[in-house]
Amino acid sequence: MKMPKWLYQSVASLIILLALGLPAAALEILYPVNGSYVTRSDALVIKAGEGVDGLVLEIGGVASDLIDISGEEYRALFQDLLIVEPFFDPGQNRIRVTGYRQGEKVAEARSMFYYQAKANRPPPEGYQAYTMHQPEHEAACVACHDLSPTQEQLDIASPAENPCTTCHRGMFRNEWVHGPAGAYQCGYCHDVQNEKGRFRERKIHADLCNECHQDIVETYQQSKYVHGPVAVGMCNLCHDSHASPHEGQLVAAVNDLCLGCHEGMNSGSHVLRGIGGKAHPLSGVKDLSRSRELNCTGCHNPHGGNSPYFFQRGVKTRMQLCQICHQK
Ligand code: HEC
Ligand code: HEC
Ligand code: HEC
Ligand code: HEC
Ligand code: HEC
Ligand code: HEC
Ligand code: HEC
Ligand code: HEC
Repeated sequence: MKMPKWLYQSVASLIILLALGLPAAALEILYPVNGSYVTRSDALVIKAGEGVDGLVLEIGGVASDLIDISGEEYRALFQDLLIVEPFFDPGQNRIRVTGYRQGEKVAEARSMFYYQAKANRPPPEGYQAYTMHQPEHEAACVACHDLSPTQEQLDIASPAENPCTTCHRGMFRNEWVHGPAGAYQCGYCHDVQNEKGRFRERKIHADLCNECHQDIVETYQQSKYVHGPVAVGMCNLCHDSHASPHEGQLVAAVNDLCLGCHEGMNSGSHVLRGIGGKAHPLSGVKDLSRSRELNCTGCHNPHGGNSPYFFQRGVKTRMQLCQICHQK
């Protein structure tokens, strides 16, 4: 049975009244907010009310040990906040936090949100985008973090003093760090304030990338065939501007990246045109043309080329392509 709207509303306001009337043992998940979606698995921020001295986190049904947040040292550093770097599963996530006082359960908070790394667009339906850098959300952080830096301070080259990396260091714990981000030139691409909002990037995609990677664009604008997303300059669909666990600043491993848009190309039967039902390997073997594992880019140049399929090294025909790896 569906609850009538008026009843729902009065129950909701009753719950709010009850919450206001309760003693201070409240608990709140500040990030990720219930009903939102996130594109990174970098931060989980919990605010514990006064009466709470310990927390148990449950992410995806797996519970942590009791985390003691009552120690003097802890309080001096973090007061009543718990900030951890979590591991969200792709897709829907549920977090439950239980607050304890002297071993007894006194509060609980839940958040259901969606984690979708960039390569798996589009954003999920039914979940809201969440903007962290707004005064009302930053209010809980300003006591300890500098959230009004000058434009020049965005380039301070020290992880502890740069006003952005104090919080955003999780995104740099990856093997492949993009040149200017690794050099702490946050201010080259981000503004303290612009029309998109606080701390937002000044430009995205080719408009930004080409300020330094003009050569890439020139090369492919001269190619006979340019790959769809490159032709429209959408570099960030495939590349992360900061750091990545994948070579080439890619937002996903090569084959996952390509298959995200080209479903069904993972059998390898397309290479041999399914002759005799045979399939060509697409991974798990040595490339033969270079010292890497074979993947889609062994045969296809990701940006463009001289065949309609962007064969590597500018080759024009299937036969020439095969010969890159199979001499005779
Ligand atoms: C009571 C002080 C305090 C408040 C308030 C506070 N933080 Fe922090 N935060 C810290 C300290 C201390 C560190 C550790 C800094 C270091 O190690 O250099 C930190 C580190 C972090 C980190 C990095 C964690 C890591 O290891 O990667 C994130 C993310 C973060 N804070 C987010 C927030 C957010 C979001 C808020 C507001 C909702 C907030 N903090 C409010 C004290 C605070
Ligand atoms: C108090 C911690 C904190 C500080 C300091 C901080 N951020 Fe954030 N920022 C966050 C959190 C938490 C999010 C949401 C999670 C995420 O995207 O990692 C976020 C999100 C963002 C976003 C996405 C848009 C948005 O508002 O949600 C941008 C862009 C961003 N931060 C840039 C910056 C830049 C540039 C700086 C330095 C001037 C900075 N941040 C300083 C905590 C912080
Ligand atoms: C080469 C340009 C560039 C540099 C340098 C750069 N960023 Fe970004 N940043 C971007 C772009 C572009 C986006 C928009 C996200 C997208 O579409 O990929 C972004 C988005 C973000 C976000 C939002 C989360 C996300 O991944 O979308 C955060 C947080 C952030 N940057 C922090 C930083 C910090 C901290 C630094 C300095 C250490 C920095 N950035 C340096 C270009 C840059
Ligand atoms: C301020 C200049 C600057 C901007 C803007 C910039 N880059 Fe870079 N980028 C560099 C530098 C410097 C390197 C490292 C040089 C090198 O190792 O070849 C680099 C390296 C790269 C690499 C790795 C190259 C390799 O050989 O593995 C990729 C991919 C890349 N950038 C993509 C982008 C994309 C996409 C954008 C736009 C979102 C962008 N860059 C914006 C300066 C920039
Ligand atoms: C369809 C996905 C995709 C798009 C869109 C894309 N790239 Fe790439 N890019 C790749 C892949 C895949 C590689 C190869 C990475 C590797 O394996 O080393 C690459 C490599 C690079 C490299 C380093 C190697 C080289 O060729 O010098 C740079 C720099 C680069 N891209 C810049 C850009 C810029 C700038 C744009 C936007 C104009 C862009 N890319 C758009 C997928 C893409
Ligand atoms: C963001 C989505 C996206 C990603 C990621 C992507 N592509 Fe594409 N690709 C397209 C679009 C759009 C076209 C042009 C439309 C078409 O012809 O199907 C295209 C066309 C192609 C074509 C030519 C198809 C034809 O029928 O002529 C090939 C080959 C190709 N992509 C290979 C790749 C490879 C290899 C990767 C990974 C490095 C990749 N794509 C990643 C969107 C994408
Ligand atoms: C060993 C070489 C090789 C590898 C590896 C390879 N391809 Fe292909 N691909 C080809 C050839 C050859 C063609 C042209 C087929 C034809 O002539 O009909 C092609 C065509 C395509 C096309 C366009 C034709 C169509 O049927 O739509 C797409 C899209 C494509 N490949 C995507 C991929 C993706 C994604 C990967 C990685 C998962 C990949 N390819 C790996 C050789 C390769
Ligand atoms: C980028 C390198 C590369 C290119 C280009 C390439 N191949 Fe291959 N091919 C391989 C590798 C690696 C293997 C696996 C060899 C092994 O297992 O030792 C392979 C295996 C094969 C096999 C044997 C398959 C099996 O299961 O035993 C055939 C047939 C084949 N390739 C045909 C082709 C044809 C036809 C083309 C051109 C359309 C082509 N290859 C292009 C790398 C390549």
